[in-house]
Amino acid sequence: MTTNPREQTKQTLTQLGIQSPGAIAQEFAELRGQFDQDKVNFINIGVGDRNQSDALRLYWLGRKAGILSQITNNWLKTAPPELKPTVGQELNKLKAHIELALEETLNYFKERVDLQLGVAEDLSLPGIERAYGTRHLIRQTFEELQRIFTAIGFSVVQGPEIETPYYNFEALNIPEHHPARDNMDTFYIEGARNSHLLRTHTSPMQIRTMEKEKPPVRIVVPGKVYRRDNPDATHGYMFHQIEGLAVDTDITFCDFKGTVEYFAREFLGPKTKTRLRPSYFPFTEPSAEVDATCHVCGGKGCRVCKFSGWIELFGAGMVNPAVYGFVKYDPERLSGFAFGMGVDRLAMMKYGVTEVPLLFQNDLRFLQQFP
Ligand code: PHE
Repeated sequence: MTTNPREQTKQTLTQLGIQSPGAIAQEFAELRGQFDQDKVNFINIGVGDRNQSDALRLYWLGRKAGILSQITNNWLKTAPPELKPTVGQELNKLKAHIELALEETLNYFKERVDLQLGVAEDLSLPGIERAYGTRHLIRQTFEELQRIFTAIGFSVVQGPEIETPYYNFEALNIPEHHPARDNMDTFYIEGARNSHLLRTHTSPMQIRTMEKEKPPVRIVVPGKVYRRDNPDATHGYMFHQIEGLAVDTDITFCDFKGTVEYFAREFLGPKTKTRLRPSYFPFTEPSAEVDATCHVCGGKGCRVCKFSGWIELFGAGMVNPAVYGFVKYDPERLSGFAFGMGVDRLAMMKYGVTEVPLLFQNDLRFLQQFP
């Protein structure tokens, strides 16, 4: 028996030596298998090719020389009368099978073409999974700080990162040759030498806010600040601060201290104690560095607090009356306090991060530790 259906169906059943219904059925089963194989081959080669589809149809169903026509002529018409019904039935079954399969194949290619043309979506394909982002550790810390202060009546405002020397220095009582400018060396904007700079702290927003708003003022100012530091494990050229300012007719040093204590307990835990060390800022008087008991050892002394039991939190103080002069506030009537926190420092301390660069390298292995 030959495996080429074309050759096979050119001969009569007698010539092929087929004499029983069982042999006929088996012959048709064979043909059906060959068609199925043809179809698979065709699908594999003819992606969306109508000519290929037509060729397959012509080969099997073509009116003149198709395999089924050959079967009709060579097998059916010449079959002995007792075998004719079997041949007829088998032929019809094969024809139905082929027609259905061709239709399915055509639909299959039509869908493929539609897909390629963008006409239809293949809903059976797996979807594209988009990874959810998480908030950066610094963003999370900002939100935590803002939560702590908005809870006691502060509102959040933001200001420009490009400032004038007036807001960044002069109006904060830092005149041109004041030594306090030394550790605030910054970047000046090209072409505008001395007229614009990158702010070295968020304190300019104290001035901008008091210029615009009448007292009482209670604001926190989150944002980026810049200094010309040499980059190392604890310094970059940019870092984050959150400024605080409260001014009203009856604000005392007690309010200042109470706010600081409240903050330390909220941020580091309810057992946290604070202390104030004398410090100096031209725009606060008196000025203080705020320390808290170490959140790791509770004050006993450990590596995190360098065995002192205390960690430095931020700089602060009572607003220097000289500043009120710049914003036309009455220093006789008003008083207040201000603070400026290094957010990166606070975040690193609280979450045990030792290197500033880690914060900004966008390494997922680092970032995913703070989901
Ligand atoms: N602006 C100061 C700094 O960047 C911090 C500060 C803010 C101190 C407000 C006192 C009051 O170092």
